Amino acid sequence: MRIGIPREADSGQTLVAGTPASVTKLIKLGYDVVVEQGAGEIADFPDHLYEEAGASIGSAEDVWSSDIVTALDRPAPDRLDAMHDDAVLIARLNVRLDDSIVPELHDRKLTGLSMDAVPRISRAQSMDVLSSMANVAGYRAVVEAAHAYGRVFTGQVTAAGKMPPAQIYVIGAGVAGLAAIGAANSMGAVVKATDVRPEVAEQIESMGAEFVALPTEQEKSSDGYAKALDADQEKVAQELYAEVAKNSDIVITTAQIPGRPAPLLLTEEAVLAMKPGSVIVDMAGGNCALTRPGEEFVTENGVTIIGYTDLAGRLPAQSSQLYGQNIVHLLTLMTPEKDGELAFDLEDDVVRGITLTKGEDVLWPPPPIQVSAAPAPKPAAEPTVIIEEKHGVSWVTIGLVVGALLALTVIMVSPPLMLTNYVVLAVAIVLGFYVIGNVTPTLHTPLMSFTNAISGIVVTGAIVQLATSTSLVSTVIAWFAILVASFNVIGGFAVTDRMLDMFKKD
Ligand code: NAI
Repeated sequence: MRIGIPREADSGQTLVAGTPASVTKLIKLGYDVVVEQGAGEIADFPDHLYEEAGASIGSAEDVWSSDIVTALDRPAPDRLDAMHDDAVLIARLNVRLDDSIVPELHDRKLTGLSMDAVPRISRAQSMDVLSSMANVAGYRAVVEAAHAYGRVFTGQVTAAGKMPPAQIYVIGAGVAGLAAIGAANSMGAVVKATDVRPEVAEQIESMGAEFVALPTEQEKSSDGYAKALDADQEKVAQELYAEVAKNSDIVITTAQIPGRPAPLLLTEEAVLAMKPGSVIVDMAGGNCALTRPGEEFVTENGVTIIGYTDLAGRLPAQSSQLYGQNIVHLLTLMTPEKDGELAFDLEDDVVRGITLTKGEDVLWPPPPIQVSAAPAPKPAAEPTVIIEEKHGVSWVTIGLVVGALLALTVIMVSPPLMLTNYVVLAVAIVLGFYVIGNVTPTLHTPLMSFTNAISGIVVTGAIVQLATSTSLVSTVIAWFAILVASFNVIGGFAVTDRMLDMFKKD
């Protein structure tokens, strides 16, 4: 079969649905590829690179009369008219928001695959164009914000004075939000983020931001997408967003619920309460009451609002590469024999989920698939534990009682002088438990290596013991203590030395 890749610059598109690298992979799957003259020009992929990759360069007619056409967005009706019966169109057909494309395809007996309907399951991640575009767009949102913001992001102390770090607030921590957090954090800003899905708190923190939780209780999502807030929850959320935005320099909003208009997060009052010079990037297009889609403007109180709808398109080479790669992954799935023939396995959740029409058949909407982003419920407790709990006794309790009895016996048979030592030991255990327990896990290794060196005290004590010991038992114990504590001291210094080496330049 022949795949056609059209030039879409006339409709304002900066991306191209295939790059020389992705064309090479399509050819390896057994397809012929024709690329419209100048298709990759804006994305810096000149025609000769496609030819070197094995494609032929053709006219619009050559491309649109192909068996498969891979495009960016919904084509104009005259383009669909140029396709032959049973041809396959692969593009972002935006069917969730506007399903009028379905009868358009059906009337022309075309097969339509909507790349933006790929289900959010792990197996489909490599084909998910929404994620790959949102990832690039999240990064670009930070770059746009940095350009509009009149200061540096990173805090510095210079000879001329102190510069505080930029405070950035990201609302909505899906793919775009997490990418924005990562980019802002790497540029040195202090980042906070909120999402209605409580399960993303960990992801937000792992990207280096502080999670600001909504005061209202949220359910964990069962399908990776958020549920819409009710009116009361929305009001409480807007108050929180306004409060944090007032103290932020940059706010990036990405909140979206699939198939619905973007929720309002920042009201007009919230924007008016922000500092002059601050910046809002409204990625979702309706998260801020004052956004003008596609534009950047400055409000009366000096807040720049960026409403660009083409953030991924502002990095055309990278975005085209990812989009082309998403298509390669889809066609790899649909070409199991690598023979250049498309196989439709409608039992496959991904293929079924994106197929709108197939010749005479209308297949949209697909049956729902239940995907779980929430952690699996914990298995029920072992029956034996339940029985023990019924009687009010568990193995832990038994262990504690036996331990306490043993300790009491040892104390009773010990000479009275030892009592002070036991008190010191008990206080050390309690203090150690609370002090070490509050050290973050990442600092455990340096802490351990340093505290190991404190074993030197044990060595000193044991040497004193040896000097004064009259019994064989205490001499043997003292030698044993010196041996074990020396391992700790030497090991502690060795590990510390290795860690310090990591900070030395070659
Ligand atoms: P996503 O679905 O992965 O993330 C959206 C996040 O918003 C989810 O984590 C969701 O839980 C959260 N959310 C929903 N309602 C919320 C609320 N009321 N408060 C706080 N969080 C809320 O979507 P993705 O892929 O990250 O895209 C985000 C938005 O960016 C979409 O609207 C997408 O269309 C847009 N986008 C814009 C581009 C541009 O050029 N402006 C380019 C690419 C994507």
